[in-house]
Amino acid sequence: MKNFASLLGKKNKFLIFGGGFSGSFFAKTIRKLGCTALTTSTTKNNDPNSFVFNSDNGIVPDEKIFDGVSHILSCIPPDKNGKDPVLESLESKLKSLSLEWIGYLSTTGVYGNTKGNWVSEIDKPKPNQKRSHNRLNCEKKWIKSDLPVQIFRLPGIYGPGRSTFEAIRNQKIRVIYKKDQVFSRIHVADITNAIIYLLANKNSLKFHQIINIADDNPSSQVEVIQYCYDLLGLKMPEAMLFEDVKKELSPIAQSFWMENRRVSNKLLCETLGYKLIYKDYKIGLKNCFLNF
Ligand SMILES: NC(=O)c1ccc[n+]([C@@H]2O[C@H](COP(=O)([O-])OP(=O)(O)OC[C@H]3O[C@@H](n4cnc5c(N)ncnc54)[C@H](OP(=O)(O)O)[C@@H]3O)[C@@H](O)[C@H]2O)c1
Repeated sequence: MKNFASLLGKKNKFLIFGGGFSGSFFAKTIRKLGCTALTTSTTKNNDPNSFVFNSDNGIVPDEKIFDGVSHILSCIPPDKNGKDPVLESLESKLKSLSLEWIGYLSTTGVYGNTKGNWVSEIDKPKPNQKRSHNRLNCEKKWIKSDLPVQIFRLPGIYGPGRSTFEAIRNQKIRVIYKKDQVFSRIHVADITNAIIYLLANKNSLKFHQIINIADDNPSSQVEVIQYCYDLLGLKMPEAMLFEDVKKELSPIAQSFWMENRRVSNKLLCETLGYKLIYKDYKIGLKNCFLNF
């Protein structure tokens, strides 16, 4: 990370579209390295480094926000019509800037259902869900824009403040078992650090346009929840069988259970040499527990 600070220094200005969970974590980290980082939100808030951007009602950040922007990270999902909010509202503005790099946070949902098999960046995406088709279309639009974009495909994101612990506390947990089903995950700090690592090494490493950021250990929902209950010193409720409860789940929850895949991080962690901070849910959840 020190390396990165000296490579990029204070002259870099990051504009982070969507200062939600991942975007704000990235902004805080990059500021600690001496860079300027502005974020956007759909409504006004008290943060002096946050600006309103809302594609649904056509509000775009003021011209002066873009002055000197060298890097952009987009953390905004497709809008209700399946379009990319940033490209729809600001593509020509972005093209008028001297941008070194744009990062786009996408999802591993574009790979569809691999029936529990490993999937990597060289596999052809086979989205099943409408939202994943929309996402793939947004990825394609970014690539077609000819802007210097790098796409990061992410599985379930968790971290301090957004993990199974909060779900348990808020009584939003349902312990569901489905034979052979696993989910891939990534700790929010690894999204940020992997991106910073890639930015710091972009001169020495071949440029890859699409990169998965996932941990080493796709696991079942039950083992993750059990681990959290153990850390809390509480007894986990008995698991329900997916087949028995699927009709009670929301359509979106059902759709998650219909896809079973193991997302490979070999490109990031072997070819490009990034070392995960939280290589599996146990280490990641311990970090969340400390901050719970
Ligand atoms: N959560 C996951 O497990 C997961 C997994 C894989 C991929 N992803 C994707 O990775 C990205 C980051 O995820 P996250 O969970 O960190 O996101 P998040 O916390 O939900 O933040 C999303 C951000 O997008 C902004 N936004 C939403 N619609 C907008 C619009 N129409 N115009 C302008 N801004 C808009 C939100 O504004 P406000 O701050 O005002 O709400 C928020 O800042 C997203 O694209 C997400 O879909 C998420």
